[in-house]
Amino acid sequence: MKDTLRFELNNVPVELTLDRERMVLSVLRSDLGLTGAKLGCGEGHCGACTILVNNTPVRSCMFPISYVNGKNVTTIEGLARSGNLHPLQTAFIKHDALQCGFCTPGMILHAYGLLHKNRQPTRGEIIQSMDKNLCRCGSYVRIVEAIQTASREMEGVK
Ligand code: FES
Ligand code: FES
Repeated sequence: MKDTLRFELNNVPVELTLDRERMVLSVLRSDLGLTGAKLGCGEGHCGACTILVNNTPVRSCMFPISYVNGKNVTTIEGLARSGNLHPLQTAFIKHDALQCGFCTPGMILHAYGLLHKNRQPTRGEIIQSMDKNLCRCGSYVRIVEAIQTASREMEGVK
């Protein structure tokens, strides 16, 4: 059954009429042309599809689009502000924290959720939080370093 849903997507109001049971990831990629969130496992295990819903990381392959009705959705395409990359994005570039890049949008948005809750996580807290986001290229050490750098650079920033 089709419903009309309304939500904010990367700070822009969106209204869609569609099957409310379709997965968020499918709607983002196929209907809205936002291909930053990736389809990896499709079963909630890898984190490649991670987006933010009300600043909380969510695996978009696991939630129906009705879940985001009335909420704020951020994808990797919406993280930069006024043409400036987010500190996490610049830190990932600085530390070369990727190889193929497939996992990177999900890594950055999951890390965003961590820093939103805990601006100064310890290395152990970063590793624990990022544990369920998988990188087949094995860039884990540099990913943790990038998050540490972003955390320092975001100090004092709201
Ligand atoms: Fe969603 Fe792997 S594609 S968790
Ligand atoms: Fe290739 Fe992580 S950089 S999967």
